[in-house]
Amino acid sequence: RRVRASDREPAGGETSVRASGDGRLRVLFVCLGNICRSPMAEAATRAALVENGLDDRVELDSAGIGDWHIGSAPDSRMRDAARQVGINLTGTARQVLADELERWDLILAMDRSNYTQLRAMARGDDVRERIRMFREFDPLDGDAVPDPYYGDADGFAEVAAICRSAAGGLVAVLSEQVRSRT
Ligand code: 4NP
Repeated sequence: RRVRASDREPAGGETSVRASGDGRLRVLFVCLGNICRSPMAEAATRAALVENGLDDRVELDSAGIGDWHIGSAPDSRMRDAARQVGINLTGTARQVLADELERWDLILAMDRSNYTQLRAMARGDDVRERIRMFREFDPLDGDAVPDPYYGDADGFAEVAAICRSAAGGLVAVLSEQVRSRT
């Protein structure tokens, strides 16, 4: 069953998020190349956390399934679309490692392909449960953040808009989680 904004529960249930021992939450965003969608999702989520004064309570990072763009800055087309909504994209692309999955409380896939590959990498049900679709938190209806790489500027603008919407929903859930643990 998909979890929508309307049937979210504050704690427990399907939207509960494991917290690390220090009370901080750690969230990893994953797409294919780590140069478009996951850096945008990470930056939009950080902006929403800052707005809510929660940026010191949640650790964020992003990574890619593929290795083609390791070491690259975010795609200039994605940076342009981000800038249009007041978000500055930074970072260096890296590949997600099976070994690191255990340390993240939430691992958020941008599309079903990312999701399936992450599930295949995960060792154990405990890790698999923490792999979710980013748009599960999106109050707008939709399943994936579409891959913009071979498209035009409109596609990048759409990714930016989706990421901001989903980030807002995600931070609403995270803020309940961190507040319930203080
Ligand atoms: P991303 O976009 O997964 O959102 O970073 C892509 C980047 C590169 C490629 C595909 C998607 N690629 O095929 O190289």
